Amino acid sequence: MSDSGGASGRSPRADAADPLSPDPTRFSVRRSGGRLTLDGVDLAELASDLGTPTYVYAIRQVCARYRAFRGAFTGVPLTVAYAVKANGHQAILSALAAMGAGADVVSGGELTRALAAGVPPSRIVFSGVGKTDAELDLALGSEVGAIHLESAGELARLDARAAALGRTARVGLRVNPDIVVDTHASLKTGERTSKFGIAFAEIGEVSRSLAMRPRLTLAGLSCHIGSQLKTADRHIAAADRLLESIPSLRAAGHPVDYVDLGGGMGIPYQPTEPDFDLGTLAAALAPRVRGAAVELVLEPGRFIVGNAGVLLTRVVDRKRRAGRWFVVVDAGYTDLARPALYGAHHMIVPCRWPSPTDPCLTLDVAGPICDSSDFLARGRRLHLPAVGDVLAILSAGAYGMSMASTFCARPLPCEVMVRDGEARVIRPRQTVDDLHRTEAVPNWSTSEPGRGNPPHGAPAENQK
Ligand code: LLP
Repeated sequence: MSDSGGASGRSPRADAADPLSPDPTRFSVRRSGGRLTLDGVDLAELASDLGTPTYVYAIRQVCARYRAFRGAFTGVPLTVAYAVKANGHQAILSALAAMGAGADVVSGGELTRALAAGVPPSRIVFSGVGKTDAELDLALGSEVGAIHLESAGELARLDARAAALGRTARVGLRVNPDIVVDTHASLKTGERTSKFGIAFAEIGEVSRSLAMRPRLTLAGLSCHIGSQLKTADRHIAAADRLLESIPSLRAAGHPVDYVDLGGGMGIPYQPTEPDFDLGTLAAALAPRVRGAAVELVLEPGRFIVGNAGVLLTRVVDRKRRAGRWFVVVDAGYTDLARPALYGAHHMIVPCRWPSPTDPCLTLDVAGPICDSSDFLARGRRLHLPAVGDVLAILSAGAYGMSMASTFCARPLPCEVMVRDGEARVIRPRQTVDDLHRTEAVPNWSTSEPGRGNPPHGAPAENQK
């Protein structure tokens, strides 16, 4: 996942081989003449029209990935609960909802988004390690398909809220399956030491407690072992662990009609990386879920949207320091956090193709933020772009905009959706005014600063 650092210097142009080879379709973009396009839209022109940084999503690719995911499990009773956190834009959610997708949500905000986009409540699963009472109330009131419990304490809280509201709910136990996965440390969620889920040893106790709470029905077991996993074997191991518990739960009177294995199906971030092998996963899971007479729920996020999106950024400066080339661009970790946060590799491709005779260099692509971690790539072999050139950062459809922030008073990027050569702005660029519009400057009751402050929570005078 991580970039290797690298020495700088000139090199033969053979190093500048087409970065999209061998299969450009996996990254959605295409070279068309000297131009880079996304579903027929010229990305450099789009950047000139709308400015940068700008996210661009190919909705056909999103739908194709959803269909491919579903298609791999033909004949298996399956709900695809799209992980809203990957990219929760209404235009994406509503397209997926129209194709029959459910949603995996982890906050009241995501639940509200999914409902607004038309996802039927019965196809929504509410996960999340720290659900507040207000979020539990929203889930109860919305009659979501299942609320995934993280602990005995959360079970007691949910029951109390259900009693207070006169509601019932289907719940799942989010189990920590203690499965070691091969991915970045921050993306591992199913190991024994992780903060997520209920330990295997606690399932008996929590299910006995559930049996005494008639408002709540134990409908399923869930887990999410980690993200950006490259092979299916860990999901299969997780399925076996979860399915093992079902006979004793059913014998104790719990219906347990589904098993939810979470998301985590990885995508290629480089041409040499394989796509996740859904065929192997489906072939292994089909007899298991049939044998256990359960419905399967899967929560892919990245697999559906990751390679359907790019982030456009413009080169604002370039310089050479201590033998290293720095290309400074107008997108930083506020726009795409993954390279700085996880050392993640995102391909960077020029929107106007360089001449084959242009030399290739090893360079660092840096963002504008006052933090030395603000890089989009380090030690990357690229043609040295000119100031003003537009670069496309690939595989940015998942965990790009959804993790963006406004640090350094940087407005959130514009978002655009493309289809068949047409582009539509689906979220205008935030303005600097938007950033401080809701800030209040207190008008203290005493003229002496620091004295006579109103108690915490008291409204500032200009808000009264
Ligand atoms: N279900 C649950 C309960 C999850 O926690 C997640 C991701 C998913 C499904 C979807 O996983 P996916 O299919 O997208 O791998 N910010 C990180 C990713 C964190 C994912 C957290 N949970 C990144 O940029 O790689």
